[in-house]
Amino acid sequence: MKHFVDISRLSRQSLEDLLAVADDMVPLAREGTDLAAGKILATLFYEPSTRTRLSFEAAMQRLGGRALGFADAAASSVAKGESLADTIRTVDKYADAVAIRHPAEGAALACSFYSEVPIVNAGDGGHLHPTQTLLDLLTIKRELGRLENLTVVLTGDLRYGRTAGSLALALAPFKPQVVCVAPEGLELPPHITRRLRAELGAAVEETEDLAAAARGADVLYVTRIQQERFFSADDYLKVKGSYVVDKKIVGLMRKEALVLHPLPRVDEIPPEVDADPRARYFEQMRYGVPARMALLAVLLGLAGKDIPYREVKGEELDLACPNPRCVTTSEKYLKNLYAPILARAESLFGELGEGKRYRCLYCDYEVVV
Ligand code: CP
Repeated sequence: MKHFVDISRLSRQSLEDLLAVADDMVPLAREGTDLAAGKILATLFYEPSTRTRLSFEAAMQRLGGRALGFADAAASSVAKGESLADTIRTVDKYADAVAIRHPAEGAALACSFYSEVPIVNAGDGGHLHPTQTLLDLLTIKRELGRLENLTVVLTGDLRYGRTAGSLALALAPFKPQVVCVAPEGLELPPHITRRLRAELGAAVEETEDLAAAARGADVLYVTRIQQERFFSADDYLKVKGSYVVDKKIVGLMRKEALVLHPLPRVDEIPPEVDADPRARYFEQMRYGVPARMALLAVLLGLAGKDIPYREVKGEELDLACPNPRCVTTSEKYLKNLYAPILARAESLFGELGEGKRYRCLYCDYEVVV
């Protein structure tokens, strides 16, 4: 594994190996170690963050290394018009690894094409958030004792809440039952549901009945409606507050089930739920440090064995990605790269029409040529 952009590029075995390293890091996240002494992590945050940036910096410091970077791109030379590629080709001379959060979908993958050091995707628009998923898996494994055959209910903004789709894809090799409860228009993106069903053979159900879904859940994974991803305020107001996980909903759940949330929350889990033993979202935040310590240690070759990462080769097409949120729309020098879709269940692709099907290599948007 050279970069960490998309957690679904790891096999089940690789995920288990990485989680085993993360398990070993749990005590070291308190005690500290000098495993990464002399190493530097750059954190480049083009979007706001509390947990991801600070836990990356805490992780590197607990490993004995140092962190530098920016939390506001407007205070960097990005404000003078510097491209993403040039920023990366500069920062990789100062640091041994780079964690980047960016509003454009596919930005981290684009950075990996220009970087001499490992790139870690710390969130690329509404697309993916693989290190959040790594800590979510670590939380589930340690709090429930297993990852296999879980019923995972995803609720809230599944379209732009990048953590929900990333979690469903990462759990697919562990044979989950995925139940989605989302307001109209905020369902899991088609490229995720199709990958889950047609390529990974995972069971995905959609329902409006949050109470019934909560009763059967091992994990109830709640996400905030991502106001910042909406193009219109009216569209946001239509869905604001659609699903609330209150004491009544949590009271229906099994005693040993977990309520997780990547945070920040707004109004989807009222504070009254926090005292319930099933509400584990603040404990979940604690796992962010050992999970990111493990990832950095593996990427820097300091811990664990080499973890294979499935690279997907892109084919250049004379077709601009139609997704306005794709990194290729803002970073015009990037090649239009696509990966052919190889499906096990052809029937799930009918609505795309006839032709050769591809996914944009950066943002996964599906096209037919
Ligand atoms: N969960 C998460 O990504 O939180 P931040 O936006 O605060 O980093």
